[in-house]
Amino acid sequence: MNLKDYIASIPNYPQEGVIFRDISPLMGDGAAYQEATNQIVKYAKERGAEMVVGPEARGFIIGCPVAYELGIGFAPARKKGKLPRETIEVDYGLEYGKATLTLHKDAIKPGQKVIICDDLLATGGTIAATIELVEQLGGEVVGCAFLVELNELNGREKIEGYDILALMDF
Ligand code: PRP
Ligand code: ADE
Repeated sequence: MNLKDYIASIPNYPQEGVIFRDISPLMGDGAAYQEATNQIVKYAKERGAEMVVGPEARGFIIGCPVAYELGIGFAPARKKGKLPRETIEVDYGLEYGKATLTLHKDAIKPGQKVIICDDLLATGGTIAATIELVEQLGGEVVGCAFLVELNELNGREKIEGYDILALMDF
C-alpha cells in the first residue's frame, strides 16, 4: 500500500499559495489508517514512549490510536481557552497564522518519556511549541511522529536534535 495515495492535495487552501495536504482520505480508509498507526506504534515502542501528546486538532487523530494500541496515556495540547484546569501555555506561528497552545500542568510527570504525534510537519511552529510545553513540565521528548512532512518549509530545522519520524514527504 502506498500511503501517499491517501493524501489529497488542495491548491490555494486555506489561502492563496498554500497547497493543503489533507489526511482525511487516509483516515477514511480503515486499512490505510491502521497501516499508518501501526508504523507509528512500532516507532513509539522502539523509542520507549510512556506517554503520547498530540496538538489540537489533527494531532488527536494520530496520537489517540497510538496511545490506545500501546496501552499508555494521551494528553491533548489544546488551543488557548479549551482546557478547564490549570495550564501552561506557549505562543507560536504556523504556515498560515498564529496561535497559543496549552497543556494541563499535571499532564506529564517529571522524567516521563513522551512521543508527540501530529498529522503534518510544516514550519515546525506547532511541534516546537508542543516540545516546549512538555519540557516545561519536566517530560523527555523521545520522538516526534508525523504522517506528512512538507520539505520546503524546513520544519525539522526548528527541532534539530530531536528524533523525527515522517511516514511521507512532499
Ligand atoms: C496544522 C497541522 C499541524 C500544524 C503544522 O494544525 O495539523 O498541527 O498545522 O504546521 P506547522 O508545522 O507550521 O506548525 P492547525 O493549527 O492548522 O490546526 P488543526 O489541526 O486544528 O486544523
Ligand atoms: N498545516 C500547516 N500547513 C499545512 C498544509 N500545507 N496542509 C495541511 N495542513 C497544514
